[in-house]
Amino acid sequence: MKIIGISGSPRRGNTEWMVKELLARAAESGVETELILLRQKKIKPCCGCLSCEEGGVNRKGVCRLRDDMQELYPKLIAADGWVVGTPVYFEMLSGLLKNFMDRTCPIWPRLSGKPVAGIAVAEEGIGKAISNIRTYVSLCQMRWMGSVTGLATKPGEIAGNKRVKKRLDRLIMKLIRGAQS
Ligand SMILES: Cc1cc2nc3c(=O)[nH]c(=O)nc-3n(C[C@H](O)[C@H](O)[C@H](O)COP(=O)(O)O)c2cc1C
Repeated sequence: MKIIGISGSPRRGNTEWMVKELLARAAESGVETELILLRQKKIKPCCGCLSCEEGGVNRKGVCRLRDDMQELYPKLIAADGWVVGTPVYFEMLSGLLKNFMDRTCPIWPRLSGKPVAGIAVAEEGIGKAISNIRTYVSLCQMRWMGSVTGLATKPGEIAGNKRVKKRLDRLIMKLIRGAQS
């Protein structure tokens, strides 16, 4: 079994810490993991050409833009589960994560049934960030396994939150069970 973690923060901050924690716990349970830091990837914005939609649900999974998404597509399809994390920006998901989501247009019909766990970190309030991720999960017909959210400002601050740690423990077990079924 393999679980992929996707961090949509432009910094090595609290979202990244939480996604890494979940993957570390999964690894302790014998699960293979991979961390995708969107801040380190070159991912162009979707150009809206819609050429990827040719073939409908049987589309070929090809994007005409050439960048790091090409290496990510097969990994995203092959993974048994995803962890998707975002910092809260203006009460929504980050631009980095939204850009990534848009670029999954060539492969979204092949994500159906995949379990997903969400992570969001804000300074004051989560707003619609988790709801944004859930909308994507629902449109791709993936399976929502739940979320953990936390409040923090400085990078690493969330690591001191015991309640968050406990909730991460429960969420990873739920995601692993979802990936097994
Ligand atoms: C552009 C921008 C917009 C933000 N908007 C919000 C917001 O609407 N509500 C909030 O509570 N925190 C907001 N924040 C604070 C971040 O969510 C907070 O610093 C969080 O810890 C960032 O996660 P990270 O450490 O993973 O980068 C914003 C930060 C930035 C840079």
